[in-house]
Amino acid sequence: MDLFEYQARDLFAKHGVPVLAGEVIDTPEAARAVTERLGGRSVVKAQVKTGGRGKAGGVKLASDPQDAVEKAGQILGMDIKGHTVHKVMLAEMAPEIAEEYYVSFLLDRTNRTFLSIASVEGGMEIEEVAATRPEAVAKIPVDANEGVTEAKAREIVAAAKFPAEVADQITEILQTLWKTFIAEDALLVEVNPLAKVADGRVIALDGKVSLDANAEFRHADHAELEDKAAANPLEAAAKAKGLNYVKLEGEVGIIGNGAGLVMSTLDVVAYAGENHSGVKPANFLDIGGGASAEVMANGLEIILGDPDVKSVFVNVFGGITACDAVANGIVQALELLESKGEEVTKPLVVRLDGNNAELGRQILDDRNHPLVQRVDTMDGAADKAAELAAK
Ligand SMILES: Nc1ncnc2c1ncn2[C@@H]1O[C@H](COP(=O)(O)OP(=O)(O)OP(=O)(O)O)[C@@H](O)[C@H]1O
Ligand SMILES: [Mg+2]
Repeated sequence: MDLFEYQARDLFAKHGVPVLAGEVIDTPEAARAVTERLGGRSVVKAQVKTGGRGKAGGVKLASDPQDAVEKAGQILGMDIKGHTVHKVMLAEMAPEIAEEYYVSFLLDRTNRTFLSIASVEGGMEIEEVAATRPEAVAKIPVDANEGVTEAKAREIVAAAKFPAEVADQITEILQTLWKTFIAEDALLVEVNPLAKVADGRVIALDGKVSLDANAEFRHADHAELEDKAAANPLEAAAKAKGLNYVKLEGEVGIIGNGAGLVMSTLDVVAYAGENHSGVKPANFLDIGGGASAEVMANGLEIILGDPDVKSVFVNVFGGITACDAVANGIVQALELLESKGEEVTKPLVVRLDGNNAELGRQILDDRNHPLVQRVDTMDGAADKAAELAAK
């Protein structure tokens, strides 16, 4: 989960990374009082989860409270790379900036370790620097068991050639930033710019943090960092039911057991769709092992509730969960939905294979639901589902 800058700022502050005061607002008029509180001047910053805000005009200096109201008015509603600005952060204006550095920690999957990246040439052109002069960007692996000790921090400082007068401050900041990274189970913490200002202090003026969703269970407080307004309502409903669901653009609803099977089902349906007016999969949904009637009903409810869905492909390979149990699950799920007054009107194509497939198919045949069709091969079922969606 990517965070907004103001949320990153809060986490930095919590763990002792030096930041400036800031407040978030969503109306221009609110900028007046906040700017007064921040000492009469402020920096108005678009809160969107994308980079390059400054270059897009999403970061503006306000010289007085009235100016802040005007700048906030210009930035709120702005579109930055497809992200509409709904909130701005007003930050305390830093004393004159002497230098802008870059530091980050991230998970380096390729090398199976953590990585620190640091440069004395930070700021808005860092991507350019990294592309044209990679030698100006130091990359130092961080051992997961050792973490960023003072010695490690000094190694990073030396590799990036930070000036002597800021070496101690940056050594300290790298350790607190690492603390943030570990304590919050982040996949990325980035500060750009880490600014050296006129009075000699080094301060984080911008922050990017991405949290590891797999660690949500041990961070009750991370739930409130979620951007509920931006969440897809179907995805939010699926999440509340504990389903592994991702909304996609197409028309064929997909349910399968096992992430690998569902992934290949998406491919097969997309391929079949080429012969049926280009229909595509409408979602990813893995109901996992077990596939009880309730889980099946929950899955069907989400998918049938998607107005884009024109047909549904239920693709199950019986393993530990036998196909007869899944077939019963489908039958009961449809009854459950109908008993809840949710009329099922979209056709379902079901392919059952694997453990007890014959028994499962028999159960579907016996039930003979008018909207359920049985097709016994994956390609055949994908073709049928695509054909029905194209109608
Ligand atoms: N509080 C502040 N006081 C003074 N100057 C600031 C402050 N915050 C940002 N700036 C200046 O504005 C520039 C851009 O700000 P920032 O880094 O937050 O946006 P950005 O880099 O364009 O956004 P992104 O990191 O999303 O690409 C900074 O490099 C810095 O020079
Ligand atoms: Mg920045």
